Amino acid sequence: NKGTYKHYMQKEIHEQPESLNTTMRGRLIRGGSSNGKNVLLGGLKDHLRTIRRSRRILFIGCGTSYNAALAARPILEELSGIPVTMEIASDLLDRKGPIYREDTAVFVSQSGETADTLNALEYALDNGALCVGITNAVGSAIARKTHCGVHINAGCEIGVASTKAYTSQIVVMAMLALAIGGNTISNQSRREAIIDGLFDLPNKVREVLKLNQEMRDLASQLVAEQSLLMFGRGYNYATALEGALKVKEVALMHTEGILAGEMKHGPLALVDENLPIIVIATHDSCFSKQQSVIQQLHARKGRLIVMCSRGGAASVCPGGASRVIEVPQVEDCLQPVINIVPLQLLAYHLTVLRGYNVDQPRNLAKSVTTE
Ligand code: UD1
Ligand code: BG6
Repeated sequence: NKGTYKHYMQKEIHEQPESLNTTMRGRLIRGGSSNGKNVLLGGLKDHLRTIRRSRRILFIGCGTSYNAALAARPILEELSGIPVTMEIASDLLDRKGPIYREDTAVFVSQSGETADTLNALEYALDNGALCVGITNAVGSAIARKTHCGVHINAGCEIGVASTKAYTSQIVVMAMLALAIGGNTISNQSRREAIIDGLFDLPNKVREVLKLNQEMRDLASQLVAEQSLLMFGRGYNYATALEGALKVKEVALMHTEGILAGEMKHGPLALVDENLPIIVIATHDSCFSKQQSVIQQLHARKGRLIVMCSRGGAASVCPGGASRVIEVPQVEDCLQPVINIVPLQLLAYHLTVLRGYNVDQPRNLAKSVTTE
């Protein structure tokens, strides 16, 4: 049921404040003087000790689920101190990449039925790794075959392009990082800031959704373009990849997500006064590096659209030339949840304006159950 919305993708973008609330319900603890703020993931509590002892954590997924894991990787590494490696499921299988008993393999899948991810799970089980699922569909193959896991509880997602599952996956993996990281004196204030940030996140998503009309206007300016680039780094490298995936899969416009640190190793050659470039430059520890990326793109007359933290337009706009998208600022590791929303809206409006099928993009399926 689409209610008052025209498309499921539109509905699912706009229901993210509620889906995130459901994802976190009963899993965040605030108050109780003895243990303060904490997270409780019922499905993992008996396995946390094993996970903490693992030599490596592998994130394995496809498409949007892979991007969500990429967004969560920095905070998991920071809080756990365990090396985290990223695997696209098909590539792991193509290489027969080594997996050991001392590994924890985390399988991220909205549907829980993606063939490549499921085959990678069988492979990791055969190799003796602890296998953890992050799934939306209760009772799905991946949820059943993993040793343990967390349901993201985002509610049924119908649009082929994943939106609300993406933000719920990131939130669950941030909670996973908090759970694995445990409570030490040295990281206590960081943990508390993240937990406070999680509590407030649905409100901040509600705020960023107010950019709907602005993104519609931007879409109308970009509607006839052939190509679009998105630059991100750090926590928001994933945002660039996922934003590009959204535009490409539904609006059928060639869009590339680029790691800003790689700009000079090729992508810079594409820059001219015609090609639109979205640069994600919200406030975090990478901000000054992104400022210099913006300056270099500007020096080559790049057609810039800069996403920055609210009130930060002056610091990202050399000569006032760029168009800016100002978003609310949240804790750095949660910022990808905010930053993807305007890009989801952009992809949606571009698709409608270009006259393509929003909920059922050509050639694509919601769940890819063959290799
Ligand atoms: C569970 C209940 C929830 C109830 C809550 C109360 C289910 C599905 N969930 O939620 O209805 O309100 O207790 O305490 O009944 N799992 C996997 N792989 C996955 C996902 C999950 O093995 O990919 C396993 C978990 O390890 C766990 C079970 O499935 O044993 C349920 O997981 P989850 O729904 O996340 O657990 P709770 O949040 O505790
Ligand atoms: C398909 C979907 O390609 O599978 C994507 O169209 C999704 O939206 C991908 O990201 C992976 O699916 P899942 O269910 O494993 O997360």
